[in-house]
Amino acid sequence: MSTTPNTARSTVADFSEQWTKYYDNSGYFGSEDLLADVLKPLLTLEDLRGGAVAEIGCGNGRFLKTMGRYAQRVYGLEPGDGVDNARRWNADVDNVEVMRADVYALPALPPLDHVFSIGVVHHLPDPLLALQNMRKLLKPGGRCTIWVYGKEGNELYLATFGTLRRLTTRLPHPALHGLSTALVPALRGYIAACQVAPLPMRKYMREVLHPLDNFALRLNIYDQLNPTIAEYWTHDEVQKLMTRAGFSDVRLHHRHGYSWTATGIAP
Ligand SMILES: C[S@@+](CC[C@H](N)C(=O)[O-])C[C@H]1O[C@@H](n2cnc3c(N)ncnc32)[C@H](O)[C@@H]1O
Repeated sequence: MSTTPNTARSTVADFSEQWTKYYDNSGYFGSEDLLADVLKPLLTLEDLRGGAVAEIGCGNGRFLKTMGRYAQRVYGLEPGDGVDNARRWNADVDNVEVMRADVYALPALPPLDHVFSIGVVHHLPDPLLALQNMRKLLKPGGRCTIWVYGKEGNELYLATFGTLRRLTTRLPHPALHGLSTALVPALRGYIAACQVAPLPMRKYMREVLHPLDNFALRLNIYDQLNPTIAEYWTHDEVQKLMTRAGFSDVRLHHRHGYSWTATGIAP
């Protein structure tokens, strides 16, 4: 019997729409530098060396090839239509396998050394069950690493865009694409202003958004305004979630002052 929560289907549908429109992983958006930045200082790509790893909710598979340069075997699991782009993007590497799979109905995989989930768990209807399922994929002593939105550092953002999301999550996708396109110049202007002035979210604007091209910037806006579920968690909430899911030695890093990278070990 499936344990997939009902609302999981709408999250998958939201992202299917997103990944079929935003298919390009080139540039900084899909780069080794960005993946290393998401993981540091808790993990380096060298830690993947020779291991078997999976990324749960891999979207367009932007990071799988990089993982495959270090790990022996990489599984990219994605329940939505992004899976087709992920397959195409990684077709030229033979140690990366992309599968259409949901965290609530995972396929049998060989026991893994690492499980990653980047920007996924905060969109899920049952994050605890998802993390427990990821834990079961790991060998004893294997490591789960996630990246999620933080509450700390996003207070102003949540007061503005958080409110706007009440409307945008109900918009038809073509209207949302139009709105995202229209907001790119405004965001580019704000990023430029952050280079010279101590404005809110300056660190995030300078270190995360500034290196992105306009296509990736539009995707970022869309990605914020589109999904029905988007939770922003405190340090303690993430720590508790990982611990309740059965991980030990849980460590967190407040990435660029607005999000959490968290890692823990399976028993
Ligand atoms: C913000 S995207 C992140 C994609 C990718 N990890 C990246 O960093 O580019 C969230 C992804 O989670 C996937 N997702 C949503 N529900 C899921 C579920 N129940 N199981 C696995 N993945 C899911 C979505 O389809 C989407 O591709």
